[in-house]
Amino acid sequence: MVDGADISGWSDVAAGWAELWGSFAAPAQDELIARCAIGPGTRVLDVGCGSGEFLARLREAGAEPTGAEPAPAMAAAASAHAPVVQADAENLPFEKGRFDVVTAVNALQFADDTTAALREFARVLGPGGRIGVANWAEAARNDVDVLERAVARALDEEQAPDGPLRPAGGIEAAMADAGLEVVSAGMAPAPWRAADETSLVRGILLGEDDATMAELHDVVVTAAVPFRTADGGYELRNAFRWAVAITR
Ligand SMILES: C[S@@+](CC[C@H](N)C(=O)[O-])C[C@H]1O[C@@H](n2cnc3c(N)ncnc32)[C@H](O)[C@@H]1O
Repeated sequence: MVDGADISGWSDVAAGWAELWGSFAAPAQDELIARCAIGPGTRVLDVGCGSGEFLARLREAGAEPTGAEPAPAMAAAASAHAPVVQADAENLPFEKGRFDVVTAVNALQFADDTTAALREFARVLGPGGRIGVANWAEAARNDVDVLERAVARALDEEQAPDGPLRPAGGIEAAMADAGLEVVSAGMAPAPWRAADETSLVRGILLGEDDATMAELHDVVVTAAVPFRTADGGYELRNAFRWAVAITR
């Protein structure tokens, strides 16, 4: 599994992320498009854009998307869909008022300083700009947690507790701390599907080396039995929380 703070680790998994995880947050992305009133001509900056699937979706909605992404291989993949700058959430190389909306999907949790990142989002907007953040809901709502716990047990490791953005109200509290006015919030499904056992293990252990994948293969497959589908694949039901704020 990728250590979120390890930027070169994100670069290493760019192709695997695009293939296996690039689309699972689509319902939360659609919620942000609607709630941030994104449409033709909206200038949107997607921070931590990963391999760029949301940039493509924004473009389909008629928006003018730009990506910001610190991991070089992720940024390179995303640049197939829109202009992308290599930058992290707290240091965005844009002038004040450059965008109408800033989004961050499954990315704000990796900023060293959440408040500083959200203030930086506000800076590149003007007053009345919108910030949309979506993130994993608390572990108890996510089937993927069952597999991650099984892996942690097999490795005799402690599973990391939920970060502050994950529980109900977590994103809203972070936005309020940054001086933003929260205007809406909710939850969206984030189903993750794997076509077969191989994709399941590659997806859950993304970022691990071949030896670790082989060692943990049976652990993942056994823990995933409740999530098997009739066609031999797997479907994990998960949830994202999202919130939208406006700048003052
Ligand atoms: C879990 S991926 C999500 C990518 C994309 N937003 C998506 O939903 O598919 C997290 C992304 O955040 C990026 N990231 C890590 N630290 C970051 C930071 N401090 N600021 C902005 N992005 C960061 C990673 O490089 C990675 O591409």
